[in-house]
Amino acid sequence: MSDKIDLKSIFSKLPDKKPFIKGIRRAPKRDFSLSEAETELALKNALRYIPEEWHDDLIEEFLEELLTRGKIYGYRFRPEGKIYGKPIDEYIGNCIEGKAFQVMIDNNLDFDIALYPYELVTYGETGAVLQNWMQYHLVKKYLEVLNDEQTLVVMSGHPLGLFASDKKSPRVIITNGLMIGEFDNLDSFNRASSLGVANYGQMTAGGWMYIGPQGIVHGTYSTLLNAGRMKLGIPENENLVGKLFVSSGLGGMSGAQGKAAYISGAVGVIAEVDYSRILTRYEQGWVNDISSNLDEVFVLAKKYVDRKEPRAIAYHGNIVDLLEYVIKENIHIDLLSDQTSCHAVYDGGYCPSGINFDDRTNLLKTDKVKFKKLVDLTLKKHYEAIKEITNRGTYFFDYGNSFMKAISDSGIKEICKNGVNDLEGFIWPSYVEDIMGPVLFDYGYGPFRWVCLSRKDSDLEKTDLAAMECIDKERRFQDFDNYNWIKDAKKNQLVVGTKARILYQDAYGRLKIALKFNDMVRNGEIGPVMLGRDHHDTGGTDSPFRETSNIKDGSNIMADMATHVALGNSARGMSLVTLHNGGGVGIGKVINGGYGMVLDGSNRVDEILKTAMLFDVMAGVSRRAWARQKNSITTVKEYNELNNNSYITLPSLTNEDKIRKIVKNNYVRGGK
Ligand SMILES: NC(=O)c1ccc[n+]([C@@H]2O[C@H](COP(=O)([O-])OP(=O)(O)OC[C@H]3O[C@@H](n4cnc5c(N)ncnc54)[C@H](O)[C@@H]3O)[C@@H](O)[C@H]2O)c1
Repeated sequence: MSDKIDLKSIFSKLPDKKPFIKGIRRAPKRDFSLSEAETELALKNALRYIPEEWHDDLIEEFLEELLTRGKIYGYRFRPEGKIYGKPIDEYIGNCIEGKAFQVMIDNNLDFDIALYPYELVTYGETGAVLQNWMQYHLVKKYLEVLNDEQTLVVMSGHPLGLFASDKKSPRVIITNGLMIGEFDNLDSFNRASSLGVANYGQMTAGGWMYIGPQGIVHGTYSTLLNAGRMKLGIPENENLVGKLFVSSGLGGMSGAQGKAAYISGAVGVIAEVDYSRILTRYEQGWVNDISSNLDEVFVLAKKYVDRKEPRAIAYHGNIVDLLEYVIKENIHIDLLSDQTSCHAVYDGGYCPSGINFDDRTNLLKTDKVKFKKLVDLTLKKHYEAIKEITNRGTYFFDYGNSFMKAISDSGIKEICKNGVNDLEGFIWPSYVEDIMGPVLFDYGYGPFRWVCLSRKDSDLEKTDLAAMECIDKERRFQDFDNYNWIKDAKKNQLVVGTKARILYQDAYGRLKIALKFNDMVRNGEIGPVMLGRDHHDTGGTDSPFRETSNIKDGSNIMADMATHVALGNSARGMSLVTLHNGGGVGIGKVINGGYGMVLDGSNRVDEILKTAMLFDVMAGVSRRAWARQKNSITTVKEYNELNNNSYITLPSLTNEDKIRKIVKNNYVRGGK
């Protein structure tokens, strides 16, 4: 290793400025409210990455980026042309993990995958792999030299350095945007982000495990199917044929909605203001029709509902206009949701009605106060429309995008259950509270995934088949759904970017598949595989407005579980361990973590899998059991019987009527 890893050791001369390729989406200007002194600090911070002899060439350029973009990205340092996750053998490295993570980073920045590739944003409006292109080169360099007795430490995209560890330690540990409590709010985060010291990693963007919108198609498919079973009386062995699902957003994750509706048999109508995102999904075959005419949209929808044929229709326009049309025309919707990026509601994630997408981008740049006013007005109209539609019998659920929180924060407290604040939740359920929590997370089912690092279709096919053979489809209806999912996965053409697959599984299901795959790598049947999961899982995330919204013992405001899962996964030797602030619902509202595990066919990996895969899931299930979730208690009891080297504490259940009666008779506000 050279004694100094810096940009000088990577570039022999300052790289030239390059033009931006036309047609590639660009991030809007981010919040910029630094003082003059802070602006100097931001420049000094960015220049820390740059050899001194280049500073004079860059000070004005970086200042221009900061003032016009709200952040310093160091565009000049972006490698020219397309970045994508190449086959692992094409990367340089001293250990397989170092090469595997380079595949994952590049996949997250692929033009076909990333939302704003020039700004290193993968999905969710602001979810970034790293903060700037200087970090990209340094991280890559470190990954090239990393050996199997070192750990790379990455803080909000900044590679702090390589530290000695051992073969059973993580090769990379990442944190993103973890703020000190008093400063754990969006304003402080935006300031820190402009200063170049905080990254918003979302979940798998800054955790380097994004696999394109497929990652979320399965979760959306399960949510829709189970919403249908719970609210529309659909039997467990049937799907959503002849039902109408309406939502908004065809972006990074929301882009899964049309496809998921289609796979679950429904007709999906999805509103999207940004035509380029509609086109991306259309070209992928994930939406079947596009129209900006609401009459046409609903004539089409009715035709397919009547024929009981699945269909995904994109409406190019604002969701609020669509909902007001639905009310006026008295159209019946079976399932209704929303997936605009309300976790960043004033930063471009939510487009006001009355202006088009380009005007929204301009207004965001020129008049933030007016923009905010328009957002609040639109949120109010959106809220009123949903109230009317649900009164007419539609089931609405919040899709974990902070939608109800945004409405409450905009001043509409009527949306809070207690009419005052969000401590007791909202008047409508969130999809986790009603559906995913009790039906999936409480059993340990979550978004397990893998990437075939060879980038070979044949490896993906072999792993699909092997995973299918590991599932007992008769055990529960969840297993039946997962079996059907993987059986049809190839046919449904879900892959974008690296050859990856998502498959919801519980703790033992994940372990069984992981060990099987490692065996296949050992036997030379397939190349190396990267296992991982979305942070949006049983145990990885503490988020009172989403993943842990069905935790009812008051601990939903604690972040102990996500922290323990990350620490525990590190201790057990997962290859990549991450812990983030803000993923999914916004800064200060969630702590979430994930992992990546490289299967190299070794016995060492088998041993890590046997403890880490189970801990990762069961830490979440046991916390849910302690919070008295019925299905988790059953799962923990089964686990305690099966496992002779672990034991999980179970709660005593109380007579709730008796407690209520005694408290009612003796309660004194403020205590005695
Ligand atoms: N699917 C899930 O399971 C899931 C899970 C986690 C989080 N989410 C949340 O869903 C949200 C969306 O995620 P994403 O990755 O798709 O973000 P994204 O920013 O890539 O996509 C959101 C899309 O909504 C569109 N949009 C904004 N306002 C609109 C309006 N008024 N009418 C119509 N379209 C509008 C935007 O143009 C954008 O394309 C985020 O808040 C995310 O955290 C969803």
